Amino acid sequence: MDKIVVEGGNRLVGSIPVSGAKNAALPILAASILSSGPSTFKNVPMLQDVATMAKLLRQLGGEVDGKHTMVVHPPHGKKLKLEAPYELVKTMRASILVLGPLVARFGRARVSQPGGCAIGTRPIDQHLKGLAAMGAKVHLDHGYVEVECKRLRGATIVLDMPTVTGCENLMMAATLAKGRTVLENAAREPEVEDLALMLNKMGARVQGAGTAIITIDGVDELHAVEHTIIADRIEAGTFAIAAAVTRGDVLLEGAQAEHMDAIMAKLRGAGATVTVESGGVRVRGGGDLRAVDITTQPHPGFPTDMQAQFMVMATQAKGESMIKETIFENRFMHVPELCRMGAEIHVDGRVAVIRGQKKLAGAAVMATDLRASASLVIAGMIASGKTEVLRVYHLDRGYEAIEKKLRGVGAKIKRVRG
Ligand code: EPU
Repeated sequence: MDKIVVEGGNRLVGSIPVSGAKNAALPILAASILSSGPSTFKNVPMLQDVATMAKLLRQLGGEVDGKHTMVVHPPHGKKLKLEAPYELVKTMRASILVLGPLVARFGRARVSQPGGCAIGTRPIDQHLKGLAAMGAKVHLDHGYVEVECKRLRGATIVLDMPTVTGCENLMMAATLAKGRTVLENAAREPEVEDLALMLNKMGARVQGAGTAIITIDGVDELHAVEHTIIADRIEAGTFAIAAAVTRGDVLLEGAQAEHMDAIMAKLRGAGATVTVESGGVRVRGGGDLRAVDITTQPHPGFPTDMQAQFMVMATQAKGESMIKETIFENRFMHVPELCRMGAEIHVDGRVAVIRGQKKLAGAAVMATDLRASASLVIAGMIASGKTEVLRVYHLDRGYEAIEKKLRGVGAKIKRVRG
């Protein structure tokens, strides 16, 4: 298996191009199912998760071509198959995003139920509750969810929590429903907004995306589109931390500052200099870093997907930082690995307390999820000696050419194929 080898001690200086957002690309690719013509998507990040979604669309009977610009012919004709199999769903939970579009367009779908994953149990009850409220029959069968409805009808759905993919699934389903759907307590993430923008280009009537109430007036059909995916705020945030902790000076090329308020505020609070420039966001680290407290929250609060990376910064800050994880119940898997490198972190339930100004030492480490793996790469860049990050496939799910991008700004990092 591949590993990433990092030698610590280098300042990062220069600019890093930010890729398209994984969590916008995945629902948008799934939404292509809603029309009958070929759609074109630009700025698609080349990631393992995107490859999995392309594979799923092909299995459903669609055609997917291209790399950063992708053309998707939605499933149709004799090849049409309304099933997302366990083999794919188990490798990527976001496969559930085809459920809403398939039912809306073809009246039926069978999707393997995603199980829990390393970071939490992650149920899909809200997705199913919403579809049932829209008139669908929902049936659980041998690990699969079967959903059927000739034509969904609009409904008012109050989500128990602002679930991102749940909201996206229901928004996509509602575009072809009869009548008006109102999603209350909706997720306000920029990726939900990007999906709504794309759906509206297809001819959908979605209003309010980016707020807690989204209204969708169903239409009879949708057409193909061309759409450019927004920049990945989490990838940008990850490199921002790398710049701050190495006392570097990095321009995150193409980063969209308007999606990064909470991340930028905490970086500034920690003592980094963050400036918004015409080409992106610049992050400079210099003097002593200060401790900051963080509570993860749905957008516009501080994102859970940046929690692990901020924790590495906290190990270097002056004072004691407290991080509270409220979204996923098991998202501190990086803590024991960071402690093996010399960090001092105490976890009590959902709260981690980090004692700062600890010297980290390189070690062989591994993590069980994407963002935790990214945090270990950052830790490796400030540790003495060599750090080997194992299980690179987690990183490949969500970071495009991470070692190449970091090498471009002066990091000593390479992938060793194995
Ligand atoms: N939840 C339920 N029932 C549901 C849906 C969600 O109880 O039906 C709970 C979850 O268990 C969790 C909370 O609600 O405690 C929020 O989960 P959400 O549904 O918002 O997460 P998600 O849609 O499965 C997306 C991202 C994640 C990101 C979270 C939170 C995609 C493809 N994935 O997941 O991204 O952490 O939102 O922002 O958009 C990542 O990129 O590393 C990643 C994990």
